[in-house]
Amino acid sequence: MSKILVAYYSFEGTTELIAQAIAKMTQADLLSIKPVNELKSKGFSKYFWGGSQVFMKKAPDLIPFECDISQYDQIFIGSPIWAGTFAPPIKSFLKFPALVDKKIYFFYTHDGGPGKVEKLAKKAIESRNIYGGSHGFLNVKKNFDANVEIAKMWISTLK
Ligand SMILES: Cc1cc2nc3c(=O)[nH]c(=O)nc-3n(C[C@H](O)[C@H](O)[C@H](O)COP(=O)(O)O)c2cc1C
Repeated sequence: MSKILVAYYSFEGTTELIAQAIAKMTQADLLSIKPVNELKSKGFSKYFWGGSQVFMKKAPDLIPFECDISQYDQIFIGSPIWAGTFAPPIKSFLKFPALVDKKIYFFYTHDGGPGKVEKLAKKAIESRNIYGGSHGFLNVKKNFDANVEIAKMWISTLK
C-alpha cells in the first residue's frame, strides 16, 4: 500500500476535488474526515455557524475511520478556509494520537480570503509533526483545470 495519505475535510465538495487530484498525482490513499455533527445549513447561515465554531476554538468529534495513520510517512492535509483559518475538523484531526512525527503538507481551498492560515497551520502542524509547506487553491470549482496545474507544480517542488 502507498506510504502517502491525502486526508481532507470538505463541507461542500471543493477541497475534495483537489484532494482527489493530489491523490491521483502522488498515488496516495484518500481519507475523508467527517465530524459527527456536520453543519446543517448550506445557505448563508453556514458562515455564521461555521465561523462561530472557529471563534469558539471548537475541535469537534470525528466520525471514526478505518485508516491506519501509522503506516504513512507523508500526509497531505486539506481544508476549506473558514473564517480565515482551517476548518474545525482539521483541528481535531491534528490532535489524533497516531498523527505524530509525520511529514505534513497542508493545502486549502478558499474564495479569496485565506487569512493567516499558512502561519496557523504551520504552528499547529509543527507542535507534533514536520511541516512540509502549504499551498492554497482559489475558486476551484470555477477554475478546476488551472488549479490542477497549480497542484502539479506545487507537488513537483516538494521533497
Ligand atoms: C463557515 C464558512 C466560512 C468561510 N470562510 C471563508 C473565509 O474566511 N475566506 C474565504 O476565502 N472563504 C471562506 N469560505 C469559503 C470556503 O473556504 C470555500 O468556498 C472553500 O473552497 C469550500 O470548500 P469545501 O467545498 O471543500 O467545503 C467559508 C465557507 C464556510 C462554509
